[in-house]
Amino acid sequence: MSVENFERELRVRKIRNGTVIDHITDGMALKVLKILGISGEEDNVVSIVMHVPSEKIGRKDIVKIEGKELDPKEVDKISLISPSATINIVRDYKIIKKEKVKLPEVIEGFPRCVNPNCITNSGEPITQRFKVEEQAPLLIRCEYCGKLMNSKEILRYL
Ligand code: CTP
Ligand code: ZN
Repeated sequence: MSVENFERELRVRKIRNGTVIDHITDGMALKVLKILGISGEEDNVVSIVMHVPSEKIGRKDIVKIEGKELDPKEVDKISLISPSATINIVRDYKIIKKEKVKLPEVIEGFPRCVNPNCITNSGEPITQRFKVEEQAPLLIRCEYCGKLMNSKEILRYL
């Protein structure tokens, strides 16, 4: 093994069981964890690698969550901030499923609506709900107030 490959192996050690989210848009790893609701209070071993050189997309982030197979619906929400991400489900060191994230039609539970007067910002116990209006460039529409949000706003209101 070359020194370079050896260093790469050390940096991103293989996991036995769990989920590897690979090809995350450079710098988005922490936002991915936020979307997945992973706060650090869980017992799972979580590895985060940021700004790794990648042949496909220049630089990328990787998140590995051990002992947890993420549910595809949950994972698809990642596509809002990282359309290039791939989800690898690992069992006994082998990848048993590899999938690209897909943009869902409806997004629930995040982001906060950009409209301060929206009922979802009123303190009422109402879950945010958005419809994907345009895929690229991304535009989502709040189902409560009709306000549109673009990628930049989505990131700001995560
Ligand atoms: N991986 C892991 N633990 C395993 C198997 C794989 O952490 N037991 C990680 C690898 O380190 C890599 C990702 O899962 O970050 C995808 O692995 P693999 O499909 O082997 O790599 P590539 O062929 O480079 O993936 P792709 O084709 O998606 O680019
Ligand atoms: Zn709204």
